[in-house]
Amino acid sequence: MARKPIIAGNWKMNMTNEQAKVLIEGLKPLVKDAKKTEVVICVPYTDIATAVSLCAGSNIKVGAENVAWAEKGAFTGEISADMLLELGTEYVIIGHSERRQYFGETDSSVNARLKTAVAKGLKPIVCVGETLEQREKNRTKSVIRKQVTLGLADLSEEDILNTVIAYEPVWAIGTGKTATSEQAEETIKFIRGVIAKMYTRKIANKVRIQYGGSMNPKNVKELMAMPNIDGGLIGGASLKAEDFSLVVNFDK
Ligand code: PGA
Repeated sequence: MARKPIIAGNWKMNMTNEQAKVLIEGLKPLVKDAKKTEVVICVPYTDIATAVSLCAGSNIKVGAENVAWAEKGAFTGEISADMLLELGTEYVIIGHSERRQYFGETDSSVNARLKTAVAKGLKPIVCVGETLEQREKNRTKSVIRKQVTLGLADLSEEDILNTVIAYEPVWAIGTGKTATSEQAEETIKFIRGVIAKMYTRKIANKVRIQYGGSMNPKNVKELMAMPNIDGGLIGGASLKAEDFSLVVNFDK
């Protein structure tokens, strides 16, 4: 059951348009031979048009970092799926822990955004992950089970197959503290089990689940060697062409 690895950059609130141009021009030649891995960069809204035009004809796909649940209307500061699609956006991150932590995202807002994304044909990357406190209290599994069952509720089989899940332990994000490959594998295997209960084992075996949290050129090989880890969501290391290319080319 071959699941194609997917390495996605998450630029977060970094990169002006000028900086984005330099990064993408630097990145293109470095990742062009990554044939077996899907390469995505999720960029700020203001960089999407630039990224789509610079990545045209390359193997790099462009994603956004969020999408509104509503189609349009009085939602100041939000962005709609149609707006993203018109620019050529293919992927979208939903429910990143920074959105949950600083901007009040909940499993139900994640689910609403997700349903709109799949209905519109955007490919979602849905993030789940426990905090350090939750891990220390042995609540990792119950927290993740809730995030997965509520956040991904009511998707059709076809839509769950087009959804990427990113397991990102909050304590490993931007901290330089990576989960060990065993810790990441254990939780990702658990997520696959939750998906199997919601759908079927056959479907669960086809859904791609990434690891995220300080993934970098040094630890990528070991993480990607784990049977259930299908890729990475890369923050800090996606902001430098060389580093991101080394993560993308983990199998070289
Ligand atoms: P990091 O971020 O690689 O900088 O830890 C990952 C993420 O938040 O997606």
